[in-house]
Amino acid sequence: MMPDDFYVTKADDNDADCISEISRKNSRNPWNKTAILQELNNGISSIFIAKRKTETIGFVIMRITDCSEIVEIAVSSKHRKCGAGRALISKCIEGSKCNSICDIILQVRKSNIGALNFYLKCGFEVLGERRNVFDNPAEDGYIMNLGIEA
Ligand SMILES: CC(C)(COP(=O)(O)OP(=O)(O)OC[C@H]1O[C@@H](n2cnc3c(N)ncnc32)[C@H](O)[C@@H]1OP(=O)(O)O)[C@@H](O)C(=O)NCCC(=O)NCCS
Repeated sequence: MMPDDFYVTKADDNDADCISEISRKNSRNPWNKTAILQELNNGISSIFIAKRKTETIGFVIMRITDCSEIVEIAVSSKHRKCGAGRALISKCIEGSKCNSICDIILQVRKSNIGALNFYLKCGFEVLGERRNVFDNPAEDGYIMNLGIEA
């Protein structure tokens, strides 16, 4: 596949099934449809999806308060390493800039080395560690930050 034969767009309620299905197959703590619908309608979150033709191949959930927080990102395994994850992060940067937000933060499990390296490639830095911040199973996490230039 060419790296640019997908596009990223904002999700709405009609995408909740596809998003929860990707999450079920790819996330360590999957988001079900009800949770996705709540997130789409809570007034502080944006969900962006990556699509190849009509197929949804990945998503990111970002909450915006005084800073932006990425609370989940996943790309279907057969569509990884083609730039979709980076494109989803770019959309989060764009969305944050529109809201005059200067930082995007996230937490990643210490054992999720693939995601850690992905975030480092996308420009995030490790700010620190938090004990037992994840459950199912309980695990320490890294707190990461991406400073956004105006
Ligand atoms: C993390 C994830 C979203 C990355 O998606 P992706 O579409 O494969 O990422 P991209 O293709 O945009 O990769 C961007 C960069 O990160 C690198 N990268 C991606 N996955 C990587 C991995 N597992 N190990 C090392 N580097 C990785 C790519 O090589 C690329 O670097 P480059 O631009 O120098 O070539 C995907 O692996 C995933 O869904 N993982 C399972 C869910 C998960 O762990 N989510 C994170 C929860 S905190």
